[in-house]
Amino acid sequence: MTRILMVCLGNICRSPLAQGILESKLPEDEFYVDSAGTASYHIGSAPDYRSVQVAKLNGIDISHQQARKFKVEDFEKFDIIFAMDQYNENDILHLAKSEAHRQKVKHILNESSNSSKKDVPDPYYGTTSDFKEVYELLDGACQKVASDLLNESAL
Ligand code: 4NP
Repeated sequence: MTRILMVCLGNICRSPLAQGILESKLPEDEFYVDSAGTASYHIGSAPDYRSVQVAKLNGIDISHQQARKFKVEDFEKFDIIFAMDQYNENDILHLAKSEAHRQKVKHILNESSNSSKKDVPDPYYGTTSDFKEVYELLDGACQKVASDLLNESAL
C-alpha cells in the first residue's frame, strides 16, 4: 500500500480536492490518499461548499471528508507528502526531524511540470471561477502523479 498525503493551509479548499481527485485516479486497494492542513482553524469541518460543488460537477464526492491538522507522525505514516504551495511546504519541512522525512515532501505543481515552481492559489477568499481554476490545476497535477505512481508500481 502506498500512502499519499495532500496538505494545504485549512484542509477545506485545496487539499480535500487534491485528495478526491487523486483517489479517483488510483486503485484503492493499492493506494491510500488522505489530506491535512497546517493550520487548526477548521479542524473537524467538512470541505468548503465550493470545493464540494466543483468536485461534484466532475463526478467526485468529497462531502464526507473532515478537516484535520498535519501532525509529525504523518511523516512516518505517509510515503509522499504533497504541499499545495510554498508556505505549506516550508511549514511542513520545519516539522521534519530527519532527511528521510524531508525527502517525502514535494510541491504538487513541481511534480506536474518542468516549469519553475508555481503555487496552487488559495481560493478561500475567491470566487467560483477560482475554485474551477484550482480544480483544473490539481486535475493536471494528479493525472501526472497517478501515471507516475502506476508506472512505478508496474515495475
Ligand atoms: P485551503 O484554503 O488552505 O485551501 O483549505 C483556506 C481555507 C481557510 C483559510 C485560508 C485558506 N482561512 O484563513 O480560514
